[in-house]
Amino acid sequence: MSTRTTVITGIGSLVTNDPGHGTGPLGLLTDAAVVIDGETVAWVGPAAQAPAADEHFDAGGRALLPGFVDSHAHLVFAGDRTAEFNARMSGQSYSAGGIRTTVAATRAASDAELDANVAGFVREALRQGTTTIECKSGYGLTVGDEARALRIAAKHTPETTYLGAHIVAPEYAEDPAGYVDLVTGEMLDACAPHARWVDVFCEKGAFDGDQARAVLTAGIERGLTPRVHANQLTYGPGVQLAVELGAASADHCTHLTDEDVAALAGSATVATLLPGAEFSTRAEYPSGRRLLDAGAVVALSTDCNPGSSFTSSMAFCIAVAVREMGMTPDEAVWAATAGGAHALRRSDVGTVAVGARADLLLLDAPSHVHLAYRPGVPLTAAVWRAGIREV
Ligand code: NIG
Ligand code: FE
Repeated sequence: MSTRTTVITGIGSLVTNDPGHGTGPLGLLTDAAVVIDGETVAWVGPAAQAPAADEHFDAGGRALLPGFVDSHAHLVFAGDRTAEFNARMSGQSYSAGGIRTTVAATRAASDAELDANVAGFVREALRQGTTTIECKSGYGLTVGDEARALRIAAKHTPETTYLGAHIVAPEYAEDPAGYVDLVTGEMLDACAPHARWVDVFCEKGAFDGDQARAVLTAGIERGLTPRVHANQLTYGPGVQLAVELGAASADHCTHLTDEDVAALAGSATVATLLPGAEFSTRAEYPSGRRLLDAGAVVALSTDCNPGSSFTSSMAFCIAVAVREMGMTPDEAVWAATAGGAHALRRSDVGTVAVGARADLLLLDAPSHVHLAYRPGVPLTAAVWRAGIREV
């Protein structure tokens, strides 16, 4: 079967994330061309050697990079928490408890409303260059509401994460052990068919190390791969547990001991940093520099959720990581593309290489550095997802 091909020429600067193909860790090529065949990239190289194709797109000297891979988002919810944010910016501190407000609103919402919300956020992210997005449950906290969240999420992305262990459900406030039994038993049975990953919020006010271990282990036994909300608000056992259980990622990583950093560096567990959360809770940023210097693999993600980080902008996360977390623009762009792909254990996204999915972001700028250099400026010129021009 033959598919339609498109050649993109006039790419002033191309981030391939394929060091074998261009200069530096970003595998940068100048004056490049890319050929899309159906859903995949069929050719990458110098514009002068580009083969003919059915269609031609002139990038006009602008920068092309892999679509962003946002490996951490909470998109199945209703309502928002404007008042809580406003209070926080007036001096109140953030706690895990605010999650309960969103749980109540989400339980009260119809399937259609939740589905429309997820679709809206996925579209909002796509318009900003995000072509892969992970989506967690965690605002239902009953068997029916968690399974419903994952069923809805799975209509929009294959990267679905069971987060029944977000906080202890209000009905179990006096019986956290009973809630862990539910999360590792009946709720897991209902959710596992719709999820690829299992996650837990390992934190004071949420789940301690032993409870988190029970949740993750049960998920692993059901064929899910673990990822962990770790060390966000305080130091704690989350990162070590993630590494020990071979989690794909430890997310937040805001409060790390030297031992935590060493454990991440010596493992395949990606340190996923979520600067939107520190921004929106007015907290100290984690040091990307410290993790990178130690040799850890770092990803950047939005953590898009109504409480701690209500942004879907990967460009914003890149800009903050560069300005506040000691990362270079190259490192931050890698973390937001290839880093996210590592965190989701995907080799078909986060790169512009032959055989990869044709997920491409064309910037209204001559270089990927502009993502940090021009903070807050909408730079999306075009987006292809699986070979289809979406923006
Ligand atoms: O990743 N840390 C736990 N969960 C979210 C916050 C969710 C909320 O406040 O509603 C997070 O930051
Ligand atoms: Fe989160």
